[in-house]
Amino acid sequence: MTPHIESRKEDISDTVIMPGDPLRAKFIAEHYLEDARLINSVRNCLAYTGKYKGKEVTVFASGMGIPSIGIYAYELYKFYDVKKIIRIGTCGTYQKELNLFDLILVSSSVSESNFGKVFGNDDSEKVDSSAILNQKLIEASNLLNKHLSIGNIYCSEAFYSMNSTLSPLVSKYQCLGVEMESFALFHIAKQLNKEASCLLAVSDSVVSKEETTSEEREKGLTDLIEVALTATII
Ligand code: HPA
Repeated sequence: MTPHIESRKEDISDTVIMPGDPLRAKFIAEHYLEDARLINSVRNCLAYTGKYKGKEVTVFASGMGIPSIGIYAYELYKFYDVKKIIRIGTCGTYQKELNLFDLILVSSSVSESNFGKVFGNDDSEKVDSSAILNQKLIEASNLLNKHLSIGNIYCSEAFYSMNSTLSPLVSKYQCLGVEMESFALFHIAKQLNKEASCLLAVSDSVVSKEETTSEEREKGLTDLIEVALTATII
């Protein structure tokens, strides 16, 4: 047990799917997993372990933002011997060619965040996802006939901002969109020699101002969930 996770070590698979929203973790467990059991509810950060097409997987919510995913990802890798974490989440897009619910596989996460420096003395503003795990996600998307856009993401520390200009990192690294967690996840995986990837569905557009409802976000993300789960059994 850790300060934030009440599970026993044997309750958590070496492969974790990590949505931000605890209710999305519950939705995945109830709709996709066989024999799913609740293995964490500390702070309502719900986590379930079950089987997807016969193979064990854990679905563990991260909460929102770099500090929250930083706690769960670290504890899972370090104290529960988790090897792979696939974050699944939503993002805003900067690209007018991308539509709501399109899928983005994150190559690298870029941010002004101090997380890498504070956590691991690494001041890189750009940190990569796992090429091996990404390859599985690409194979899964091909198997399911789902299109993935592959590129960099801007990881923001503030959902709301008084600043109307975009971060210079967005154009410097041609970011496809914005979310708030991948930078911490990739930095932690890099320091601990683990695998981490991030698959995102577009939930809003910074360009067209279109957005999805919270109900659609909870229920309408089936492509995202199915590609991620399929990658765990390849
Ligand atoms: N900004 C930051 N994170 C997000 C957004 C956004 O517009 N949409 C979904 N996650």
